[in-house]
Amino acid sequence: MYSSRIFASIGAVTVAALAINVLSAVKVYVLPSKLKRYAHVSADGKHPWALVTGASDGIGRAFAEELALRGFNVVLHGRNQTKLDVVKSELQEKHPETFFRTLVADASKVQCVNCLQGGENESHHPLDFNAIKDALQDLHLTVLINNAGGGARDPVYLSLSDSSEERITDNVTVNALFPLHLIRVLLPHLAQNSPALIMNISSLADAGLPLLASYSASKQFLMTLTRTIDLEIAFSGKAEIECLGVRVGNVTGVSHNRQSPSFFTPSANTMARAALDRAGRGHGVITGHWAHALQQAMMDFMPTFLARIVILNTIRERKEAELKSS
Ligand SMILES: NC(=O)c1ccc[n+]([C@@H]2O[C@H](COP(=O)([O-])OP(=O)(O)OC[C@H]3O[C@@H](n4cnc5c(N)ncnc54)[C@H](OP(=O)(O)O)[C@@H]3O)[C@@H](O)[C@H]2O)c1
Repeated sequence: MYSSRIFASIGAVTVAALAINVLSAVKVYVLPSKLKRYAHVSADGKHPWALVTGASDGIGRAFAEELALRGFNVVLHGRNQTKLDVVKSELQEKHPETFFRTLVADASKVQCVNCLQGGENESHHPLDFNAIKDALQDLHLTVLINNAGGGARDPVYLSLSDSSEERITDNVTVNALFPLHLIRVLLPHLAQNSPALIMNISSLADAGLPLLASYSASKQFLMTLTRTIDLEIAFSGKAEIECLGVRVGNVTGVSHNRQSPSFFTPSANTMARAALDRAGRGHGVITGHWAHALQQAMMDFMPTFLARIVILNTIRERKEAELKSS
């Protein structure tokens, strides 16, 4: 009798804990967006601006469009001026009230120590982050979205030992070092304009996927950076800046996938909307779209050995499909 009461109590506590976990997970996706707290006008009457990196295509372009709809002027960053100009004029036509600006900077060209030691390196032409900061100084910048990035290409799936030094360095630089330095130079500006938002875009691959070593690891770097910057801002106690890491699963309407959206593969616009809807509700790393969160929850629920089998089979299938198509 006594022991059955103990078991019943343990059961009730477990069910309650599970219910609380499920409710707090669901809450993230049903509460309304608080993004508008960053769409404020400055004391001297300047309207808010957002900088979106990698805005010439895919989710970044969708972020730019969605931010324009939500009252922000937008700086469109990319590496290709012609492509950016096309996106700018398309967006300008749709949103005549909004101001758009372009910013060209190749995210793979972060200064490297070897280049410094070797003196002048004609072929490298490293980025000048202070020049980027200066180019934005006149704007009331309140939102930074570090979206530029992605996996290495041609092929996408490649073992670490088969990958060249250049492929790995380039991929890690774009996904990790570029946003790190951009945050470094823009933090004082964002602090001055606070409340402000830094949103860093990651991937479900940040849990670690085979044949995607540099991509998986650099996205995890970005999420640890997000948590660290959040704490550093709190430590300084000087500004109100939300640092939000957004994990993303498969998305369509991007450079490598123009197919129709499906249940687990939302469009770039749906993804951008979902990510922005998660802003303003506290700090941390979240999965931006509920369907991707469901996918992640299914993986988390599986025993580790089974999750490993699923991952290995999925990547094997994708590698085979890539080989066939090439
Ligand atoms: N799509 C997905 O299924 C998916 C899944 C998980 C995570 N994500 C993440 O979501 C973000 C956006 O991906 P996406 O799928 O929208 O990719 P996308 O369609 O290929 O767009 C990537 C954007 O980043 C820019 N970019 C790439 N390399 C750059 C460089 N070296 N310098 C400057 N800009 C550069 C691209 O410029 P160009 O137009 O000149 O190429 C483009 O504007 C990435 O961080 C990616 O890791 C995407």
